[in-house]
Amino acid sequence: MAIPFIDLQAQRQRLGEPLNQAILAAVASGQWILGPQVAAFESELAAFAGVKNAIACANGTDALQLILMAWGVGPGDAVFVPAFTFCATGEVAPLVGATPVFVDVLPDTYNLDPASLEEAIAMVKKEGKLVPKAVIPVDLFGQPADYDKIAPICRREGLKMLCDTAQAFGATYKGKVTGSIGDAAATSFFPAKPLGCYGDGGACFTADDELTKLLKSIRMHGEGSDRYENVRIGLNSRLDSIQAVILSHKLKIFADEINQRQVVAWRYAEGLAKSNRIQVPHVIEGCVSTWAQYVIQVPDRNQLQADLKEKGVPTAVYYPIPLSQQKGYQHFPSAPTPVSKRISKSVVALPMHPYMDAATQDVIIAAVLASVG
Ligand SMILES: Cc1ncc(COP(=O)(O)O)c(C=O)c1O
Repeated sequence: MAIPFIDLQAQRQRLGEPLNQAILAAVASGQWILGPQVAAFESELAAFAGVKNAIACANGTDALQLILMAWGVGPGDAVFVPAFTFCATGEVAPLVGATPVFVDVLPDTYNLDPASLEEAIAMVKKEGKLVPKAVIPVDLFGQPADYDKIAPICRREGLKMLCDTAQAFGATYKGKVTGSIGDAAATSFFPAKPLGCYGDGGACFTADDELTKLLKSIRMHGEGSDRYENVRIGLNSRLDSIQAVILSHKLKIFADEINQRQVVAWRYAEGLAKSNRIQVPHVIEGCVSTWAQYVIQVPDRNQLQADLKEKGVPTAVYYPIPLSQQKGYQHFPSAPTPVSKRISKSVVALPMHPYMDAATQDVIIAAVLASVG
C-alpha cells in the first residue's frame, strides 16, 4: 500500500458519524454562510488560542489581507516578509497597494532572521521611498518565529507585527499559543494544514476590539450597521457554516493530534540522527511545533526524492525558489538572502501526520538512511 504524505482519511475515520450528523444538521439549518455555527467556532477558536477575538473568513490569504486593509496599509508602505515562505505572505502587500520587502531567514529554523530584518529596515529608511509599516513573520512548517527577538524591533520602529501562522496554528512559543502573538495573526484552514477544513477557510486573531469590528465589516463588503450600508471598501470573505462545524469537531481532537505529531517528529529525529549527512529540524527552546511539515536537508535532494519514490515514499519540496526570486516578485526590494537561496536547493519534506504508525515510519527512515548514507 502506498504511504500517504498526509493521511486525512485516518482523521476522517476518527471523527466518524458524529461529524457526518453535524454536517447534515448544518445543511438542514439553512444558515449556510456565517451562521451561528461560525460564531460558535470563533469563540472556541479564540479560547484555544487564548486570544480575545477570532474572526473567521474565506481563507488564510484573505485573513492576512483583511488585517492589512483594516490597518490602512497601502501605497508607499513597506511590509517586511521572509524571502522563504509560501507566496501568500508576500502577495497580500501588493494586493493592498503596498510593497513587500524581502528579509532572509535563519538556516536552522527557516524563520525570519531578526538581523536581516534590521538590515532591510535600514535599507528602506536610507532609500527614503517607502514608509516601514508592518512585518509579517511566518511560523514556517509549524514552528513559531522567534518573537522575543522580532517584537522589540517592531516596537522600536513602530511597525505592526502580523503573525502568519497559517502553517502553525496551535503551536506554542514560550507558553503562548500562536494566534495570541503579535498585534494580529492570521491562519489558514486549507485541508492539509494541521487544523484544516474540507475546503477553504481562514481566520484572523486579535485582542483589539476596534480592529475586530473593522475586520468583521471588511469581510462583509465593508458593511456598516447592516449589510446594505457600505461604509468602506471590503471583500467578500466569509466562512461557510459547514466548514465551521467541521472545524469545531476537529478542534476537539486538535490538542491530542498536536501531541501525536510530537511523537512522530521525535521518532524521525532519533532515527535520522544515525546519519550526519541529514539535517533534521531544529526547534528553538521553549517552543512546540505543530509539524505542518517535517523538513530535512540533505546533500543531494534529487537523488533522495528519486530513491524514495521508487520505494513508494512520497516527498515534497517547500519551496524550490525563494519568493524574492519568483518572476512575479523579483522587482520588489530585498535584503541579501543567501540563506533562502541556499536552503531552497536542499530542503525536502517527508510524510508527516498524527496518524503515522511506527512501522510505516521506520520504513521511511530506513529508506532515507539507505539513500543518503
Ligand atoms: C505561510 C502561509 N501563509 C498563508 C497561506 C494562505 O492560506 P490559504 O491557502 O488558506 O489562502 C498559506 C497556505 O498555504 C501559507 O502556507
